Amino acid sequence: MLATETLLPDDVGIARACEVLAGGGLVAFPTETVYGLGADARDDMAVARIFDAKGRPRFNPLIVHVASPERAKHYVEWSDMADRMARAFWPGPLTLVLPLRDGHGLSPLVTAGLPTLAIRVPTHPLASELLNRYDGPLAAPSANPSGRISPTSAGHVLDGLKGRIEAVLDGGPCEVGVESTILGLAGEPTLLRPGGIPAEEIEAVLNAPLRLQADTDALTAPGQMSSHYAPGAPVRLNATSRENGELLLGFGHMDCDLNLSERGNLTEAAANLFRALHDLDAQNAPAIAVAPIPDIGLGRAINDRLRRAAAPRT
Ligand code: TXA
Ligand code: MG
Repeated sequence: MLATETLLPDDVGIARACEVLAGGGLVAFPTETVYGLGADARDDMAVARIFDAKGRPRFNPLIVHVASPERAKHYVEWSDMADRMARAFWPGPLTLVLPLRDGHGLSPLVTAGLPTLAIRVPTHPLASELLNRYDGPLAAPSANPSGRISPTSAGHVLDGLKGRIEAVLDGGPCEVGVESTILGLAGEPTLLRPGGIPAEEIEAVLNAPLRLQADTDALTAPGQMSSHYAPGAPVRLNATSRENGELLLGFGHMDCDLNLSERGNLTEAAANLFRALHDLDAQNAPAIAVAPIPDIGLGRAINDRLRRAAAPRT
């Protein structure tokens, strides 16, 4: 159990939040929509801890929060359409999904291995202040345990996550109360999630009707696609040794080609998962074998993702 600190919305509180984030800690902070559970988006271990604290059974990609559109351009391929949307709605409750930019430096766990990134510039003054002072991108899903409703006050955050996170920055109740609207701009503009900005307002700026994400469309819920991140090589699970030329991805102390966590730590394994699959794939292995991962805590999310990677390809 961690002693979760409640930080006041003043200089001292923000400075402490920055210190905790820089040390790889988790800080819940208010946005205009709901409270987010923030971690430095460049820090694999910190991002893995978000999933652990929320008890998420799978790695859904996370929204990255930045202080300004200028900062967003460091991480995504900007476009005229992105510019129009940002000018109309940022800062505010609109998330844009755009192609990841080369050299982005974010943890692959943030995008769950996807080539796109969900990013937004919140308008809540305390969120802006924190993002400006921290001077780094914050990955932040809603600050509630998985399956519970999103928190709109520091009290809600503590009800769900006290003892599981380092701190909550108390900025009072959130104004909007529903999550941001998510607009996909990696292809045709598509409404991926209704939210704080009405679709009609986006259509007015677009001057065209918005595509709605069809249920069958692969992008609806990227975390739900079965071979959402599949390496080129076939993947065999629960392997205890190599067979015919396989590269073995290990867990715990064992003989293998790459280890998710020598010390058998599930948070560390989660932090390394996507990078490890990419690295083994890059070695052109004929096949990848993966050691058994305990199906508890973050191990469930790791196994969910590994099952997708091992799913038959279409
Ligand atoms: O208002 C909000 O958006 C709040 C505050 C904290 O900013 N955050 C939030 O995050 O609602 P979360 O993790 O609860 O929801 C993120 C949603 C998920 O449904 C996820 O699938 C989607 O964003 N998402 C993230 N990255 C994506 C991507 N690359 N492509 C499509 N959807 C993505
Ligand atoms: Mg949520």
